[in-house]
Amino acid sequence: MKGIILAGGTGTRLYPLTKSISKQMLPVYDKPMIYYPLSVLMLAGIKEVLIISTPRDIAGFLSLLGNGQKIGMKLEYAIQEQPNGLAEAFTIGESFIDGSPVALVLGDNVFYGSDFGSRLLESAELKTGSVIFGCHVADPKAYGVIEVDDEMNILSIEEKPENPKSSYAVPGLYFFDNKVVEIAKKVKPSKRGEKEITAVIEEYRKNGELKVNIMGRGLAWLDTGTHEALLEASNFVEAIQKRQGLYVACIEEIAYRRGYITKAQLVELAEPLIKTEYGKYLMDISTERNLQPNK
Ligand code: G1P
Repeated sequence: MKGIILAGGTGTRLYPLTKSISKQMLPVYDKPMIYYPLSVLMLAGIKEVLIISTPRDIAGFLSLLGNGQKIGMKLEYAIQEQPNGLAEAFTIGESFIDGSPVALVLGDNVFYGSDFGSRLLESAELKTGSVIFGCHVADPKAYGVIEVDDEMNILSIEEKPENPKSSYAVPGLYFFDNKVVEIAKKVKPSKRGEKEITAVIEEYRKNGELKVNIMGRGLAWLDTGTHEALLEASNFVEAIQKRQGLYVACIEEIAYRRGYITKAQLVELAEPLIKTEYGKYLMDISTERNLQPNK
């Protein structure tokens, strides 16, 4: 399975913060936002990732993450010229995907939960069809919304409905088989002028090839779309990290625990950061005797 992070968009809802910097580069507490979706793909066991961003912002991501070798990953980059919608990620990424199944995660989605790692590993085993998630939210209108029956069959999926049929929103994390590229090519722009991911999902649903995983209360899916939500996400991460002494979305830690990098490589990554709590945390991990569970 390969992975794509879509980190595009104009970020106008976060102006003036995003007037000259990508939204997905903004801090969520102590690390750039893109660390969070990248950590999701890493936890899913995906090692080859394509980062798609705007012509203005792509260089920033390259300078932040490089080719990924330092964290045992293989990162590639591509440009989305205009914010034409999420479904375009698959046509932009066609040669990268190269006939493989693929996971798409949006660069501004933050997840945190206890058995999330094992759910991700399971989803990444997908060979045919598709897997999406459903999360209970207070305001489903802002998202893709699913309607499910008692047997968890999806009856409908609607993008930003005026009158949502349920409180289950679809977070920006999707697993598809290799048919997704051809399906995405056929998607026509919606009323808001975007090639919607919802149209891709609807195609899988019509063909009986869509599975939904409803996330329980144990999983937090956080929004970063407004100044308030961004601050709340930072506060959430700070609270968890402070209390548990375990970091959220620490890509170097995941790389080490997953065996992608050695202890010596982890120390090398920690050294330039040593003035920060983040760097000290990495150093502590490198001297830890009993490894923590990595889920
Ligand atoms: C997009 C998708 C929507 C999904 C959401 C998750 O919305 O279109 O279906 O629920 O991401 O973050 P957008 O970010 O374009 O508003």
